[in-house]
Amino acid sequence: MESAEKEEISVEDEAVDKSIFKDCSKIAFYRRQKQLLSKKSTYRALLDSVTTGKDSARFQIINEPAKVPLLAEVCGIEGNIFRLKINEEIPLKPRYEVPDVLTSKLTTVRLTSCPGDTGSLVLASGKGDLKCHITANPFKVDLVSEEEVVMSINSLGQLYFEQLQISPKQRATKKNEEDASIDTTQENQEELGLWEEKFENFVDVKVNGPASIGLDFSLHGFEHLYGIPQHAESHQLKNTSDGDAYRLYNLDVYGYKIHDKMGIYGSVPYLLAHKLGRTLGIFWLNASETLVEIKTEPAVKYTLTQMGPVAAKQKVGSRTDVHWMSESGIIDVFLLTGPTPSDVFKQYSYLTGTQAMPPLFSLGYHQCRWNYEDEQDVKAVDAGFDEHNIPYDVMWLDIEHTEGKRYFTWDKKRFPNPKRMQDLLRNKKRKLVVISDPHIKVDPNYSVYAKAKEQGFFVRNHEGGDFEGVCWPGLSSYLDFTNPKVREWYSSLFAFSVYQGSTDILYIWNDMNEPSVFKGPEQTMQKNAIHHGNWEHRELHNIYGFYQQMATTEGLIQRSKGKERPFVLTRSFFAGSQKYGAVWTGDNTAEWSYLKISIPMLLTLSVTGISFCGADVGGFIGDPEAELLVRWYQAGAYQPFFRGHATMNTKRREPWLFGEEHTRLIREAIRERYTLLPYWYSLFYSAHVASQPVMRPLWVEFPNELETFSVEDEYMLGSALLVHPVTEPKATVVDVFLPGSSEIWYDSKTFAHWKGACTIKIPVTLDAIPVFQRGGSVVPVKTTIGRSTGFMTDSPYGLRVALSTKGSAMGEFYLDDGHSFQYLHQKQFLHRKFSFSSGVLTNSCADERGHYPSKCVVEQILVLGLKKQPSSVTAHSADGSTQPVAFKYHATTSTLNLERLSLNIGADWKVHIQ
Ligand code: NOJ
Repeated sequence: MESAEKEEISVEDEAVDKSIFKDCSKIAFYRRQKQLLSKKSTYRALLDSVTTGKDSARFQIINEPAKVPLLAEVCGIEGNIFRLKINEEIPLKPRYEVPDVLTSKLTTVRLTSCPGDTGSLVLASGKGDLKCHITANPFKVDLVSEEEVVMSINSLGQLYFEQLQISPKQRATKKNEEDASIDTTQENQEELGLWEEKFENFVDVKVNGPASIGLDFSLHGFEHLYGIPQHAESHQLKNTSDGDAYRLYNLDVYGYKIHDKMGIYGSVPYLLAHKLGRTLGIFWLNASETLVEIKTEPAVKYTLTQMGPVAAKQKVGSRTDVHWMSESGIIDVFLLTGPTPSDVFKQYSYLTGTQAMPPLFSLGYHQCRWNYEDEQDVKAVDAGFDEHNIPYDVMWLDIEHTEGKRYFTWDKKRFPNPKRMQDLLRNKKRKLVVISDPHIKVDPNYSVYAKAKEQGFFVRNHEGGDFEGVCWPGLSSYLDFTNPKVREWYSSLFAFSVYQGSTDILYIWNDMNEPSVFKGPEQTMQKNAIHHGNWEHRELHNIYGFYQQMATTEGLIQRSKGKERPFVLTRSFFAGSQKYGAVWTGDNTAEWSYLKISIPMLLTLSVTGISFCGADVGGFIGDPEAELLVRWYQAGAYQPFFRGHATMNTKRREPWLFGEEHTRLIREAIRERYTLLPYWYSLFYSAHVASQPVMRPLWVEFPNELETFSVEDEYMLGSALLVHPVTEPKATVVDVFLPGSSEIWYDSKTFAHWKGACTIKIPVTLDAIPVFQRGGSVVPVKTTIGRSTGFMTDSPYGLRVALSTKGSAMGEFYLDDGHSFQYLHQKQFLHRKFSFSSGVLTNSCADERGHYPSKCVVEQILVLGLKKQPSSVTAHSADGSTQPVAFKYHATTSTLNLERLSLNIGADWKVHIQ
């Protein structure tokens, strides 16, 4: 045991040198595509071969010199989506097609072929306003919407498809020695890395040889692109220069560099393009290492003098070219045709699922540290929150809570009685989250290891043995979550009877699941490790973490016999991870620049389906000064997943350790979060059922306002609140852009108001969080804050009604039991609509299917922007009874306060203001 303990790894081992990660020039398939693509496209579609069936149209594409046919398949999918698949017609062996990401319900729509010019084929979907125009020679696809070409595929001739070949060795045994030696020398060119690729001291031996694919997309009239997380980069995608593509390859990068396109923990190979009047999406379903190049050609106007009178009338529109390249797999790409941002969100979630509805507690504040030392420490920190009157919901335990980093166990000295500790938290209506990583300590006496070993549940190395690599526990093997049997077994480990010391308030954190392998190539697994079905790790690297979270989530659902909603946080993710829980941005640093970049990083996750996302508050690495910590809490309170976390060897930083004034400021920020919980929960419901992101870049809410397209220092929460966190030290003023010329915005503290389409200078002190409510909205809040969300179930509500320039407002409210699936199976929920017009505020039902009795009342209503003092205010119930309402009108701020109301939140009523 002692020697095993010594094998363990310290945090310094993880603090890696950036040079251990590849840049494009070190990636062989990138070099190959660059070298071999310099020539004009040689692909030609054989349109005589086209067959149109119920679900798709298929035809061959031929590469002229090689004459090896590819098979293309075009499908129309319900909701204005096209799918284009290209594979070898008869591959030497099957190529990997990503399973388990698409929701099973995809319905295809029949494509009708319309007459085109000779050498072309036109496929129309639905009513015919969307068409795929396929040109035979050279092969090109134009996506046409209402006679406008919005996207062209392969118009730059970058279709690239490496056909699987038999290896030079096998060929050598077939052919005579002389032939073979010629082939081998040709193919073993190190530069091309066909069968072998070197990086540092690692050699990647490729049994299948080169298998990479690539394709270009030209987006006509588009200059603004977003998506393809995860990068510590701006929200709007930047132009890539040679050798600086966005890399999608899940890696454990401790203290990642910001404004960098290197791959970090997760990948969603999906981007959105937006221009006035249209939003599009491209979802490239491939789980191998992927690179994306972006090149925008701005619009050019030719002037009279330059081009002469005829050309003067021409205006060459802007265009952005996107070049996708993947190491392996097939081309399987979905074109999401919008036309609005909201339509694209729905189309993407139709393919990959919507955000899981989180349990209410998980929207509260989470307190984490690597590590809370022992049960006493947990007890003291928990008590600290109560002493300082700071609400919080979840205590977290990192890897040190286990017996030598053996997940599903407890360190007997530090946590001798985990159930007692959970009882303490349960009594305060709080929860516990513990970590469970995918690496399993090699130790025959550790039952998880022994059982997985016995059943062959680990990823294998290319020699056929279990893959072994080093991670926190020392030598470890890695569960093969791509195997459904492994997932089923792993899920069963969360059963209360199996996971000793676990109770129903314990939830899970999946970390290191890129997977992280210390001392491995780029700190991860060798690409030639072998998974279930004999697939190489290279085929599915980016989806490994997705599968772990999937299995964990399933485990938490099963342990409650399908009754309770799970909560699982993951570091690594892929397209569709939103179905399984929350994601955070990994090992950031306690510096202002990292606070600032958390906003675009989270916006990018949000528009690619992952609404439940957050960044470590305070910064994981290093010691934030008090001012930075306060600003981070203020920003985090308005970000979806709100957790304070810090690495080992940092100074303790519980909210009360920085003096009374800073404690007060942090308390205020956290309390603002709890005040807005009804709004947060309603937004998550809308993400869950209607695919709309919780945190929204301004362009999503104001798609027709060009000035919003590159804004990333502020954002909308739902459609009602604009948040502009302070991310500069010693700030005394911030410039806030208020969009929309027909909008009116209200400062949520002072109630001062401004007309939209302007930038205002807001003076700030350390207690200011610039938040603005949009005129025309109603925001539900809690008027009393409890120690945790559990204490607030019955507490009263308030409504913040901000009037539009026309004197009206609308808002929604969602409520259920906050933890079970009854909202889904029994329709036990309340979905209400608040509308204000002509001086009447109405509470009515937004969804008749839902029923959920609540005793809660609305006790306060605040109306912003009421121009004149009312003479009377009365409340009218559905049974016809009328009550006078006491009110206070403040002429200086044009606000009306209604207090001591007692209007049931779930009942129909009206308040008349005359
Ligand atoms: C890396 C994670 O990113 C970090 O949050 C965690 O504290 C450490 N691993 C230790 O588990």
